[in-house]
Amino acid sequence: MTSGAFPFEANPNPVDAAERAARLVDPGFGRVFTDHMVTIRYSDAKGWHDAKVGPRAPLTLDPATAVLHYAQEIFEGLKAYRLADGSMALFRPEQNARRFQRSAKRLAMPELPEEMFLQACRQLVQVDKDWFPPIDGGSIYLRPFMIASEVFLGVKPSAEYLFMVIASSAGNYFKSGAPAISIWVSEQYTRAARGGTGAAKCGGNYAASLVAQSEAIREGCDQVVFLDAAEHRWVEELGGMNLVFLFDDGSLLTPPTDGTILEGITRDSVLTLAREQGLNVREERYAMDQWRADAESGRLVEVFACGTAAVVTPVGTVKSTQGAFTIGAGGAGQMTQKIRTKLVDIQRGVAADTHGWVQRID
Ligand SMILES: Cc1ncc(COP(=O)(O)O)c(C=O)c1O
Repeated sequence: MTSGAFPFEANPNPVDAAERAARLVDPGFGRVFTDHMVTIRYSDAKGWHDAKVGPRAPLTLDPATAVLHYAQEIFEGLKAYRLADGSMALFRPEQNARRFQRSAKRLAMPELPEEMFLQACRQLVQVDKDWFPPIDGGSIYLRPFMIASEVFLGVKPSAEYLFMVIASSAGNYFKSGAPAISIWVSEQYTRAARGGTGAAKCGGNYAASLVAQSEAIREGCDQVVFLDAAEHRWVEELGGMNLVFLFDDGSLLTPPTDGTILEGITRDSVLTLAREQGLNVREERYAMDQWRADAESGRLVEVFACGTAAVVTPVGTVKSTQGAFTIGAGGAGQMTQKIRTKLVDIQRGVAADTHGWVQRID
């Protein structure tokens, strides 16, 4: 099957303009959905087929559908922005397409061609462009995903799959700038082990993280940070964001992507910008006890988390069974603010896009 525009069937009952405007006043995240969705089917016999953009509607699944039993599912998350000049754009969507292929490979699923992934994202935004919230920092969050759709209870890779993209209007993640978050160190639960699925964006990783995230909330923290599964010593990442450490000698450290953490596209963008600003970027392991010691000695001056949803978020305090410690003055540091502003300005078409990261879609 070739790509080009997919067949389009307009939603016969779209949300009316007044109701849509009401929902877009304060959309939050992940609750307000647009009128359409993309579906593409795959079978071993036919390959990719039946691509279309149609009305958003519930799925009907046989109770024996494979994904409901063995969690053969992967997903992506990326945002469409309105640029300063009013046009629409996606940020590095080809990176999401390629990560989706890597996730598919790890979960024994077929790889969706990059151009089909991109066409699906572009076309859905074009069709549902009225769903951009008319607020500063508003975006349309795209959620491409794929499920094993064969009706069969045997444990084996499914012979049929359903790829979809749905879209959700999103407000500014943080209403006024980015407040510093507190994080809880999970000592009991791990997220991913060597040889596991840590580098894949599969639903199962997130299911496994929820109990630790609940523990973080009980401990009065915003997010959980996971340590490595073998030694419970090396800092890996948060449940949904990568971590970056800034030191007083002008160096920047982030854990290496060696199979157990997600290769964040924000992480990669941040490292590129940091190198350009003359920081010495180190992708190295960082031990939990060293983190505490460096924070207490003042060597470590700033820490931030990064990911598509919240872009760059300062980490203010860290808490574990050993007690709590503070990073710098506990708020948003200067370097963090600088990197955040630079990245957001590129995403919004305010700063020059020297890397070709911003892909216009109209
Ligand atoms: C576990 C995890 N780590 C890191 C990230 C950040 O990745 P990205 O910057 O591509 O959104 C995400 C979010 O997608 C995530 O779920």
